[in-house]
Parts: sequence; C-alpha cells; structure tokens
Amino acid sequence: PQEGRFELNSRVSLVIPSDAPEVKGIADSLAEQLKLTAGISLKEAESADGKTAISFVVQEGMPKEGYKLSVTPSLITLTASQPNGFFYGVQTLYQLLPPAIYGKQLDKKADWSVPAVEIEDSPRFVHRGLMLDVCRHYVPIDYIYKFIDLLAMNKMNVFHWHLTDDQGWRIEIKKYPELTQIGSQRKQTVIGKNTGKYDGTPYGPYFFTQEEIKEVIQYAADRYITIIPEIELPGHALAALATYPELGCTGGPYEVCQMWGVFPEVFCPGNEKTFEFWEGVLDEVAELFPGEIIHIGGDECPRDAWKKCKKCQARMKQEKMKEEGELQNYTVHRIEAYLKEKGKRILGWDEILEGDVSKTAIVMSWRGKTGGIKGAKRGNEVVMVPNDYAYFDYYQSKDIANEPFAIGGFVDVAKVYSLDPTEGLTAEEGKKIIGVQANLWTEYITTFSHAQYMLLPRMAALAEVAWTPQEAREYSNFLNRAKLLTQRYEALGYNFAKHILQESKSNE
Ligand code: ACM
Ligand code: ZN
Repeated sequence: PQEGRFELNSRVSLVIPSDAPEVKGIADSLAEQLKLTAGISLKEAESADGKTAISFVVQEGMPKEGYKLSVTPSLITLTASQPNGFFYGVQTLYQLLPPAIYGKQLDKKADWSVPAVEIEDSPRFVHRGLMLDVCRHYVPIDYIYKFIDLLAMNKMNVFHWHLTDDQGWRIEIKKYPELTQIGSQRKQTVIGKNTGKYDGTPYGPYFFTQEEIKEVIQYAADRYITIIPEIELPGHALAALATYPELGCTGGPYEVCQMWGVFPEVFCPGNEKTFEFWEGVLDEVAELFPGEIIHIGGDECPRDAWKKCKKCQARMKQEKMKEEGELQNYTVHRIEAYLKEKGKRILGWDEILEGDVSKTAIVMSWRGKTGGIKGAKRGNEVVMVPNDYAYFDYYQSKDIANEPFAIGGFVDVAKVYSLDPTEGLTAEEGKKIIGVQANLWTEYITTFSHAQYMLLPRMAALAEVAWTPQEAREYSNFLNRAKLLTQRYEALGYNFAKHILQESKSNE
C-alpha cells in the first residue's frame, strides 16, 4: 500500500503497446467494463507522458503469469511479459475497485478510485484448477461459461471437465454416435443416497457436441484457462458399456447407471476391441482439445469381472501377469504410449501409482495427500486434490440440518485455506507438485445454483492456496479481505454460502 488514490474519470488516458494485439484485447475489455459499470470512457493515447493514464507496458523477462501493478495518484502502470500476466493484472485491478466493477450495470454512486499500491505478483503453482462432474448431473452449456468466469475471476487456469462416467456419457464422439444416443441418458435416478427408491423420470439425453466444446475451449483460452478433458477408463464405464456391451467382460446387458457408487461392471482390457474403442475416442478427444494433458481416470476399478473373464485371463497369461492389478497397469501404460505418440501427456487419479506407472504420467492425489506424496517422491508430477481439503461436494458447515443435502464429509473454508500442497516434502520433492485443484462431484447437485453454493466462497480459499506463497498466507487476513467477496458475488448474481465466512470466523 502507498499514499493516496488514483481517481478514475473520463479524462484518464489508456495507453496500449501498438504491437501487441492480445494485450490490446485485455485492455479493451477493462475499458468496456469501466464504461459499463462506472460510465467512464477512457481515451486511447500513444504515451502516458504528462497524462493521467492507465498504461500497459510489455517488459521481457518476467514470469509467464506474473505482472507488476503500480498505482500512484496520477498513473496506473501494468507491466508483464505475456498476455497471461496482463490478464491477471487486470483481475487484480478489479479487486482494487468497488465490487460494482463485476456487475453488468451502471453504478454512479460507487467510489471509482483505486488505492495507490505497488504490487509484484506471480503464482505459486502452474496448475490452478477446478473439476466439474457433468455426468452424475448435466450442467447446461450456458452454465459452463459461467463456471469458466468464476475460474477467471479467481486467477485459476485449469478447467478439468469430467465428461464420462457410469451415469452418463456427455461428449459427442463422431466415430461412436451411439455413445450420446444411448450412453447420455438413464431411465431414472435414485432418490437420496442409494435408498432403493427411484424418481421414475428419464434423465437425458444430455451431452455436449464437439462444436459446442470448441466454443467453450476458445472462451476458456481467451481467459488463459486450459481445459483438461477426462475420459474414464478402465472403471466408471457403465454408460459406455450400456452402449457397447461387447466391451465388458460378460457382454452384458448393461444399463446406464441409475444410482451412485463404484460398480463391478468395468471395461474388459483382455479384449483388443476395447483398446480400439479407447483409441478411437481418444483420437477425437486429442484432436478437439489443444491442451497437452488428457485425464484418463484410472480410479475405483474393481477387478472381480477380470478374474472371471476368459479374455482378461488370456491376456494375463500372455503378458505373464500374476494378478489383476497388472492388467490395470498394462492398460494405463498402453494408453499413455498411444497418447504420447500424439504429443499428449496423461493425468490419472492416484490409483495409477499402484502399478509402475511411467514417470511422465501426472498423478492427481485425491485420497488425501498420500498418493501425491508418494508420486512426488518417486519423481512424478502431481496435482493435489486431497478429498479432506478440496472436495467441494462435502458439507461446508457442521449445521447439516440447514445445508442442502450433500454426500457427507466436512470441508469448511478454513480447512480449504489450511491446505499446504507441499507439506511433508523436501524442497526438491516439492517442485514435483505442479498444482492444486478442487473437485465438484454432482451426485447430489442437480442445479447450477446449488453448484455455485458449494463453490463459493470455498473457491476463493482454494485460489489463494494455488496462487500465494505459503509464507504469505494467513487465514485471518484472508477472512478480512473475504468480506468484499460477498459483495462481488452479489454484483455477479452468484448464489453463495452467505453464512459461511461468518461461521468460520467464530470457529477460528
Ligand atoms: C474420485 O473421487 N473417485 C477421484
Ligand atoms: Zn475381461
């Protein structure tokens, strides 16, 4: 913090480097938002000399996502090397402005000035993510955009899109059109927690076309967000097996799953046709998503069917495997090699560590931090998503009676904030932790309004875990600043857990 404030008004000039169109795009979006919410029109100028100005300056040699923001009473200078840094610098400028900047309407009463500051900033982790499960419950495309907006305002850069599971296949695959004709709908859905009672209402067909996905990818890219698609294998397979029963060990019949959990009906890795199918799907996924990383699932795959399957047993014999776990390992290796040819890397849930997964695979540690610690120590890159800190489908309050029905657990905003992703590792091992994310599974989350409630404000805590160095973080300091969050969420029209910040304060 410095002395004084910079007053925004229509005499302020906007100075943008002439040879950086992407930076100009970011500056223009700031100008548009100021016009919309503050009614202020910035005038473009060639230089900031002698003017009251907001000046964007490209300077080589800064971290890719880093920026410097200098605000004096007469000049705002935003300096970065890459567009990413400018984008985050503008997000910080928004955070210094009144919450009305996040809205869609003119607010003449707000104080349109910025406190003087000198900020030099860059993120702790390169992977700052959020996972959304659109299989258990589908999230319409308009809300996918809103979800991405939330990531952007929190300076997060990865959207992990969980697209296939037992209860629904949600991505169009042109080679296998039946996947989204059959696999994208279920006859009905269980009521509550596998009560044995069903709602009798068909669910679906719900899926995203490749054209829709392309537009989402571009929208995310414009906000410096990479999408990691997840195609689950060899477990969580029922939607695919209902479509192509020959890909399961028994040949079916199978149904798109109507309840929640882990199911013994999984893909048959003894069958070459299964690999053909996976490769056919991944060909299109690899082509569609420009990012380097593809998530291949790998979690929660019971092996009972493999024990009884002639094809699986024949494969085991041929490959000299002693137990079924090696079949899973074989599968992950083969898929990794296939994707490597296409210039892609795999990411998988921490179960992939149970075999001798290659060192180039990235591990997503969800069963606590244990898998992540093991992965980092053996030399794999790791994303921390420990369920006891980062599962946003868990309750965020102990007052369960007054919360929407949830899967269980308890992860309040303080617990999220307390996560140190590299705890228990040496400095060298800690470098293997490339990031952190939260997961939103949607068994019990049927609307986007409910999803927002589960995300906010916990997402702000997670974003700070992902961005800010450990030694610079303090929960009481976060809580003081978080008061403004509620006003921002209101300006944005988001549903959020209003009582949570107060409650966490009294629990402190
Ligand atoms: C998971 O929660 N099964 C990754
Ligand atoms: Zn089999």
